[in-house]
Amino acid sequence: MSGSFYSKFVFPYLCELTMSGKSLSGFRQDALQEINGEVLEIGFGTGLNLPHFPETVQKIDAVDVNPRMHRLARKRIDKSGIAVTNYVLSGEHLPMDDASYDYVVCTFTLCSIPDVSQALLEINRVLKPRGNFVFLEHGLSDVTKVQAWQHRLNPLQKKIGDGCHLNRKIDDLVLGASFEITSLKRFHLPSVPKFIGHCYQGIAAKPLSSD
Ligand SMILES: C[S@@+](CC[C@H](N)C(=O)[O-])C[C@H]1O[C@@H](n2cnc3c(N)ncnc32)[C@H](O)[C@@H]1O
Repeated sequence: MSGSFYSKFVFPYLCELTMSGKSLSGFRQDALQEINGEVLEIGFGTGLNLPHFPETVQKIDAVDVNPRMHRLARKRIDKSGIAVTNYVLSGEHLPMDDASYDYVVCTFTLCSIPDVSQALLEINRVLKPRGNFVFLEHGLSDVTKVQAWQHRLNPLQKKIGDGCHLNRKIDDLVLGASFEITSLKRFHLPSVPKFIGHCYQGIAAKPLSSD
């Protein structure tokens, strides 16, 4: 639905409304607390992670495929004191050089990237050796009954959520891109239906060499 009326004029506001709740702030803060050095964020959205980066982070390269998202992020960027360089492009094809970043961050975005495996390979490529990929994502539950609902409701969610999938198994996808997962928490977001609120929060390191 990229480039459609819905993507341009409806989804950015829906995203800001649904993702800016206080209940998510604590999880964002927890996920981002160790970030430092050269930082890239994929799926920057309306910039909701900005207040949660540690003070040591003074600049971020931000990638999002939807130009309208960045427009909504403007006020948050101006307020944050972090210098944000905005790239309107898809995470599957990054123009950045190999081994450019200490950290790459993705929150609630791996669910939506059409070729998520390709994007994860790109994230791995642009990370420095021993660099870290920090993720906070919703995805496939480990409860069979919930999984059944996730598969059932996935086609509808893809429409409402502008390509968002309910049933991606995030840890397997990350491992499939030659990362080592060094920390992983699985939990349900409080007060959110289980089919959409099952989360994966983790850190994945790029090995020194994949040989
Ligand atoms: C649900 S929003 C999450 C935004 C933000 N990360 C947050 O935590 O609030 C998903 C974001 O991923 C972006 N996105 C979707 N597909 C993408 C792609 N292929 N490459 C880069 N960004 C993409 C969307 O435009 C949207 O801003």
